Amino acid sequence: MPFTLNVNGKSSTVDVPADMPLLWVLRDELGLVGTKFGCGAGLCGACTVHLDGAPTRACITPVSSVGGKSITTIEGLSPDGSHPLQQAWQEEDVPQCGYCQAGQIMSAAALLASNPQPTAEDINTAMDGNLCRCGTYLRIRRAIQRAASIATSSTNSSPQTAQANPPAAR
Ligand code: FES
Ligand code: FES
Repeated sequence: MPFTLNVNGKSSTVDVPADMPLLWVLRDELGLVGTKFGCGAGLCGACTVHLDGAPTRACITPVSSVGGKSITTIEGLSPDGSHPLQQAWQEEDVPQCGYCQAGQIMSAAALLASNPQPTAEDINTAMDGNLCRCGTYLRIRRAIQRAASIATSSTNSSPQTAQANPPAAR
């Protein structure tokens, strides 16, 4: 059955069973293998993508339920790996085996989009469903705080801010 999906800003049509999980559509039909299979039961967060900005477990989301929603995967988070979370992840050297990390970053990205300055408690709550068998939790939390700082400082130094506060005429 054909479904037209909007993935990372691009429209693609796939011909798959209606109950196929979005995870398999992304990986096997569209070749977007950054999103990982962990538990297949909505319990680990490895398959997290965004549906209209909301963090969603792709392993338990049938393709037929996605409709016209905008899907974002780790490949679409930024065009060049420059998202503040991707910068912070590198600076904090977060991953160990790396398997869970795309899901971790997608959950964190949804958090920062709705709450740009999260408290430690906010981060714990938002990241609670993302498991890491390598135990990188402390580095993940530090990286999210660092990403929030990077995003804030780049907002404060953006050209729009400069234009909003023009220097006084001489
Ligand atoms: S693979 Fe989807 S939540 Fe574990
Ligand atoms: S880095 Fe290995 S599972 Fe998280």
